[in-house]
Amino acid sequence: MIRSTSIAADSPSNRINVGFIGTGNQGMGMLKRFLAADLGNVLAVCDVNEGSHGYKEPDHFYGRLPAKALVEKSNTAKSKSGSPAKCDAYADFRDVFRRDDIDALVIVVPDHWHKVVTVMALEAGKDVYCEKPLTFSVADGREMIDAVRKGNRILQTGSHERSNPISQFVCEAAKAGKIGQLTKIITKVGYNNKVGPGPGWTAMPVPSNLDYQTWLGPAPDQPYHQDRCLYRFRFNYDYSGGQITNFGAHCNDMAHWGMGLDVGGPTEVECLDAKFLPDGSLFNTATETRFRCKYANGVELICESGEEQVQTRFEGTDGWLQTGYRGTTASNLELLVGLPEPATGTSDPHTSHMANFIDCVKSRNEPRAPVEVGHSSAVLCHIANAMIRMFPETGPGRIAKWDASAEAFTGDDQANKMLAREQRDPFA
Ligand SMILES: NC(=O)c1ccc[n+]([C@@H]2O[C@H](COP(=O)([O-])OP(=O)(O)OC[C@H]3O[C@@H](n4cnc5c(N)ncnc54)[C@H](O)[C@@H]3O)[C@@H](O)[C@H]2O)c1
Repeated sequence: MIRSTSIAADSPSNRINVGFIGTGNQGMGMLKRFLAADLGNVLAVCDVNEGSHGYKEPDHFYGRLPAKALVEKSNTAKSKSGSPAKCDAYADFRDVFRRDDIDALVIVVPDHWHKVVTVMALEAGKDVYCEKPLTFSVADGREMIDAVRKGNRILQTGSHERSNPISQFVCEAAKAGKIGQLTKIITKVGYNNKVGPGPGWTAMPVPSNLDYQTWLGPAPDQPYHQDRCLYRFRFNYDYSGGQITNFGAHCNDMAHWGMGLDVGGPTEVECLDAKFLPDGSLFNTATETRFRCKYANGVELICESGEEQVQTRFEGTDGWLQTGYRGTTASNLELLVGLPEPATGTSDPHTSHMANFIDCVKSRNEPRAPVEVGHSSAVLCHIANAMIRMFPETGPGRIAKWDASAEAFTGDDQANKMLAREQRDPFA
């Protein structure tokens, strides 16, 4: 099906009709930005949560009904006719995919759902903006690439740093050799920013607003606890990969970008340190970690936990450059000549990244973070996590050889078993 192409070309206003799947912490933020920049028509929102507190901050009240209310309030404010457009709220994403009037989807569900929702959307003929980390496992990425390329669809990975003029400046400078030959890249990911219950935690009754079984979806069936789901899912390996995939999807994507390696990966990976909560805690991802990778071009990448949530530092034979959430610095001020001001308002990186997606839905050009780019940077995070998860058993010094073209560890069956995740039926 190539419906999006024809609708975009034929539509009198050339506006794209979208649906938002997952209207929690990031989904609501993206929806607000989408509406503020008036990037298209939001015809549908979908979330397995009708509406509740319990998200990242105590005052956040998110879910499908708050999202519908937000869209309709915006439609009312923009309406000139006095009959503002409606937005439908769905609990089941498949009902959104069945709508022929929807061209594109913004998918902002937890990581363990990314592949299933994305591939089903692509197969329904929709273009997709899917949040980072694009995948939940190395195996997921191959399926997503196939679905995009076979269906001739547009997919933008939500790696919005690709649309941040400051990140563009720094990564492109490193890539262009402005600091000489690149030797080392140091990336930082923030520490866990939430505390979960420790060993012996007790299950809670499932609240009536949440379809918990669908929230779990392809993940194992586990007793409900409020800290398992909304926002905090990123600290449990059944749904995500901790800060290594959360913030690591940004800073390690930038590392690949500055290296000029949009597609590909390292040749070896080693966990240098990893700390975990006591066994039986609900949060089981590493709380603090450090890993290193080596690339065929001789560059060494060190990724470690730090105070700054996202930071990427490029070191070369003639100097260094670094950028992150706390600012941009360099070994020599001349390297910063031409550094753009932070982009704000409707040109902030998240909005600009969605705008780039919408432009590409219309033009059928490649977006700034196509599926292969999202896959490659997620692979780096996943193979690091494989080593991190084995660290308590193996200790330091276990260097795994990675074959990026085969997407497999060489001669390491234990590590290779961690490249795919079991999927619970009927979502397998
Ligand atoms: N680009 C960024 O900087 C950025 C920032 C934050 C989060 N994210 C990404 O966004 C994604 C969501 O994170 P979050 O912080 O918004 O989590 P969240 O828990 O706050 O929101 C996720 C929402 O998805 C809903 N959901 C779960 N399964 C669903 C399903 N099958 N169908 C419909 N809705 C479903 C949940 O009920 C929840 O409301 C993650 O992949 C995360 O990495 C990206």
